[in-house]
Amino acid sequence: ARLVVLVSGAGTNLQALLEACADPAYGAQVVAVGADRHGTAGLERAAGAGLPTFVVRVPDFPDRREWDAALTEAVAAHEPDLVVSAGFMKIFGASFLERFGGRVVNTHPALLPAFPGAHAVRDALAYGVKITGCTVHFVDEGVDTGPVIAQEAVPVRWHDDEDTLHERIKQVERRLLVEVVGRLARDGWTTRGRRVSLKCRTC
Ligand code: GRF
Repeated sequence: ARLVVLVSGAGTNLQALLEACADPAYGAQVVAVGADRHGTAGLERAAGAGLPTFVVRVPDFPDRREWDAALTEAVAAHEPDLVVSAGFMKIFGASFLERFGGRVVNTHPALLPAFPGAHAVRDALAYGVKITGCTVHFVDEGVDTGPVIAQEAVPVRWHDDEDTLHERIKQVERRLLVEVVGRLARDGWTTRGRRVSLKCRTC
């Protein structure tokens, strides 16, 4: 399967995917990496791996609709089977979802539907939950509302701050994302309404 990965930050989830893709048995290859800003570590990782990269910045367009259309074209140029939003901090619009809907996967650092949005780790700490975690899900038109594919719990420790908790979640997140993308790439997927059934041996 051809993967286009979208990033905004450090790109450690991208790095985990790149390492997994080095094994031909994994069944997927990253064909391009896109970002919504220049100079992110994620783009540097991609360039270091010799991959094509592209940047589509919101301020370069008159409005969000035109930005979304440009992002759609930039991604489509690489003919992905699956688009992976790996720490991409933007909401996809109508044209993007029209083109790629049902094959966009996002990773989120909380157990959805708890703590959606851009500050999931901070919000979980502020609420005082003792268990949080991460979710890999298909993207729909809402914010972190699409069908859940996989989740894993991570305990909150009494001395955690946002950084320590996020880092512990990200260790789990990278493994879970790699596992899910590999299963989707090898075994395919179907979405029926909000339920997801993976055609694989273990589920
Ligand atoms: C991840 O925790 C992702 O869920 C969140 O941002 C983080 C991205 O990390 N939205 P990285 O850029 O892959 O290191």
